[in-house]
Amino acid sequence: MEVTQRDLIIRVAGEGGEGIISTGDFIAAACARAGLEIYTFKTFPAEIKGGYAMYQTRISDQHIYNQGDTFDVFCAFNGEAYELNRHLLTPGTAFVYDSPGDFEPDLPEGVIAYPVPMSEIAKKLGEKRAKNMVALGALSQLFNINETTLKRVLSDKFGRKGEALLAKNLQAFDLGKEHATTLEKSDRWRVADAREAKDVIIISGNEAVGLGAILGKLDFFSAYPITPATEVAKYVAKQIPKIGGTLIQAEDEIASISQVLGASYAGKKAMTATSGPGLALMSEMLGMSAMSETPVLVVDVQRGGPSTGLPTKHEQSDLFLAIHGGHGDAPRIVLAVENVKDCIEMTVESLNLAEQYQTPVILLSDGSLAFSTQTVPAPKADEFTLVNRKRWDGSGEYKRYELTPDLISPMADPGTEGAMHIATGLEHGETGAPRYTADNHETMHRKRFNKIKPIVDNYRVAEVDGEGNADIGVIAWGSTIGVVREALTRLRAKGFKVKGLYPKLLWPLQVAQIEAFAASCQRVIVPEVNYQGQLSHFLRAETNLKPIPYTICGGLPFTPAMIVHKIEEMSHE
Ligand code: COA
Repeated sequence: MEVTQRDLIIRVAGEGGEGIISTGDFIAAACARAGLEIYTFKTFPAEIKGGYAMYQTRISDQHIYNQGDTFDVFCAFNGEAYELNRHLLTPGTAFVYDSPGDFEPDLPEGVIAYPVPMSEIAKKLGEKRAKNMVALGALSQLFNINETTLKRVLSDKFGRKGEALLAKNLQAFDLGKEHATTLEKSDRWRVADAREAKDVIIISGNEAVGLGAILGKLDFFSAYPITPATEVAKYVAKQIPKIGGTLIQAEDEIASISQVLGASYAGKKAMTATSGPGLALMSEMLGMSAMSETPVLVVDVQRGGPSTGLPTKHEQSDLFLAIHGGHGDAPRIVLAVENVKDCIEMTVESLNLAEQYQTPVILLSDGSLAFSTQTVPAPKADEFTLVNRKRWDGSGEYKRYELTPDLISPMADPGTEGAMHIATGLEHGETGAPRYTADNHETMHRKRFNKIKPIVDNYRVAEVDGEGNADIGVIAWGSTIGVVREALTRLRAKGFKVKGLYPKLLWPLQVAQIEAFAASCQRVIVPEVNYQGQLSHFLRAETNLKPIPYTICGGLPFTPAMIVHKIEEMSHE
């Protein structure tokens, strides 16, 4: 039996509170420490205890762009997890499950089952929480997950909770492993052997945004906790004192963005992180940022909406809000990250853009990336160019909103002699004094909008995936890009003529480039995880394209197979 392979997907599922997330984290960390690439995806309920929790780890010795289609190995902690995943069990899938447990599987033909007495062993040990460690021991034995590294990550986590608890968990792990030696392995799945570790870090999307903030030399961060963005603040809280910065947990989102604006007015690089409901609350102050030309970065980790919506689930549905949320004509720059590496690099970049253009910048991440752990090259502080705002050099009369040739006015910190720095939400003339004439309002609107226009040409061109003409072009944004990359590779292997365009700057749109791409494709499809086809809407409004929207909104990201299937279907139309 051939038991080696390049790419393996392990899914663990059960009830929230059973330690599903920890189990997945341990598998991912152990594989990453063994020098392999990982891409994780997790979904869990909004409740603290109970409800369905799932953690999927894709492991490879090649670069990975997304969470994959489905799994090769499935570990079910309870009957609900089994029921919800049964339709995905196919011949050859390895199925590890709690037995005796709360269900007896009626398995589809060809599925290879490994019953493991997870609950029973944990109960005998007098530590019910250790059920997941019994499972982990069995998974380690059956699928070649390095025991030494697993025990190291396990000890790192539970060691902090006390010696006795750690000992029980290690014992549970050993018993699970021992049990698995009694099972006859008859599947082909096996984690690739450890290889020389590269200079990489293992980090989640949220932590990566925090790291980007630190590398971008952030001075001030204020946020109000909200799923799925909270870990950004948690990361920054630990790190920002080391670079002399400050973090405040504000009483709500309106306060947090107001504090960020205040800090920026005082000359500091400042940002916040939130999710859709928080961004909605911030919209008035985004107008203030645009009007007062105060640099500000808001990272929006999108979740299912509207209202409280699906707080722990994935969606790409804040594009309308990010681009047009607020009253009046309020310009802003909107970008979206594709993966965890982008979360680092584009946070630095977004801080730079806010400073450079003295305007609000919104960086969109999403629920799947927020919690996805990926291996990324370790960033070096000196690899990033940092941009600071244009400052007043002390010569001539200081006019905060001076109509300079590039329309970006030098800023002076409050208290600078000879410079009265006014930041006002009222319409104003060049000095900052209120001025409501029709001429002035139009002039200042033009200033605020036209000063950011150069970004369309100055920002790096969107990546084109593929050459020449194509029958079908795919324009993707955010984390959907990684899924499309793999789908197009598969389609090309089947002989389809397909191309992709992956814009990271979503507002203002790079219209000329988008139109040039579309001109090389017979038809253009835009897959996105929202109900209304939000990017499609902007493409129809701002370009000559008539894109075909492909939308889903079930709280989960696309899989490569879904894109492949859709394009195959389209090609028969
Ligand atoms: N021995 C001891 N403790 C263990 C353990 C073991 N074998 N396995 C797990 N645990 C601990 C974990 O360390 C964790 O404790 P911590 O919070 O102190 O770190 C806890 O048990 C939960 O385990 P974990 O693996 O992290 O999660 P889970 O798979 O059991 O699922 C969550 C629980 C995370 C899904 C759920 O608690 C949650 O937080 N839901 C989201 C809530 C939310 O954000 N709602 C939105 C509001 S708008």
